[in-house]
Amino acid sequence: MIKTPKLVMIPGPTPVVRSIQDQMARETVAFGDAGFVADFKEVVADLKSMWRCDGEAFVIAGSGTLAMEMAVANVTKRGDSVLICSHGFFGDRFIDMCKNKGLDVDTLKAEWGTVYTPEQMDAALSAKKYAAVTVTHVDTSTGVVVPLKAICDMMKKKHPDVMLIVDAVAAAAGAESWMDWGIDVLLTCSQKAFGVAPGLAILWASKQAVEKRRSLGTIPESYADFERWIPIMNDPSKYWGTPPVNMIWALKESVRIIKEEGLDERYARHIRQAGYFVAGMEALGFRTAASKELRAPTLTIFFYPEGSGLEDAAFRAKLAEEGVQSAGCLAGFAGKGFRLGHMGNIDKHILVGAMAAVERACLKCGYKIEPGKGLGALQAGLAKE
Ligand SMILES: Cc1ncc(COP(=O)(O)O)c(C=O)c1O
Repeated sequence: MIKTPKLVMIPGPTPVVRSIQDQMARETVAFGDAGFVADFKEVVADLKSMWRCDGEAFVIAGSGTLAMEMAVANVTKRGDSVLICSHGFFGDRFIDMCKNKGLDVDTLKAEWGTVYTPEQMDAALSAKKYAAVTVTHVDTSTGVVVPLKAICDMMKKKHPDVMLIVDAVAAAAGAESWMDWGIDVLLTCSQKAFGVAPGLAILWASKQAVEKRRSLGTIPESYADFERWIPIMNDPSKYWGTPPVNMIWALKESVRIIKEEGLDERYARHIRQAGYFVAGMEALGFRTAASKELRAPTLTIFFYPEGSGLEDAAFRAKLAEEGVQSAGCLAGFAGKGFRLGHMGNIDKHILVGAMAAVERACLKCGYKIEPGKGLGALQAGLAKE
């Protein structure tokens, strides 16, 4: 039998389509090359206008964690108080990051699988003067999406001077967010819903955030300093740190694909696809960690059906043999289920292939499902498209 190709269904990196791969395979040119400079300028301008950003957009070599650190570094100074709203592992990641920077940290935590409310945020923010608040749009450890619009509305009305930092690593370009909702720093990276290989940190900063950065004077960071990068983002023929030429071309192709689909349709498509896939998995007896209204459109955590006999490591190894790479759950969810990404440039073939592999893995692991039951439910949804 010929080797089954791998479907990368972890919650990032996500599948990279051929036309994006082609950009990464191009002959690398000098970063001062006129063609490249024009391409870089265009991608930054597109990101700014597409996300309705009145400030600046940044594309920097690095991962999502750099983007998190960069967000905090540019809108807070040592001694400031920051409220970290967390509903999972990646929300918590801000805690040490902020403590290490000498910030006074308070947390608002939701139990895994649930989320805090804008009202709880408002109460916490009203108790003390905060410089910034962090929110994780979709926490990849729980598959839960926060009510971002409602949070932004509350922030705009009640706490307009508190910098709102949104970690949209597992959301941007897959779950709806717009800078003009009142977000100050929105951050993500290339390997999630943009469908590019890992390697780029992507941020948007509002005019207010850029002004906040200016008011801080010199900050300890250099590579992560907005002020160092703003001249480059506005005129990429200038130099600060070597730009990852091929990755920026790859992002440009991703942005082209997103524009072709349209962001509104892309967000709607993610919701529909997630719904169809979950319906298929539920038909096989799996249940999701998040309740229906809190389920992220970009990834899902599927708990193993009770009595199925499915054992996590063995099941995921079998699933990988069947061609689908999935991720294990973290912390309290470890062993109970697995994480599957369905964000970015995911098409019908990918979804059908993934569901079919899940069914084979179930059967091969001794969980007696009716073959085609999950596929049937998924197909019923996809056939509506
Ligand atoms: C919500 C969230 N924030 C931050 C990160 C960290 O991103 P990276 O692994 O690219 O540094 C991740 C990674 O999966 C994430 O899911």
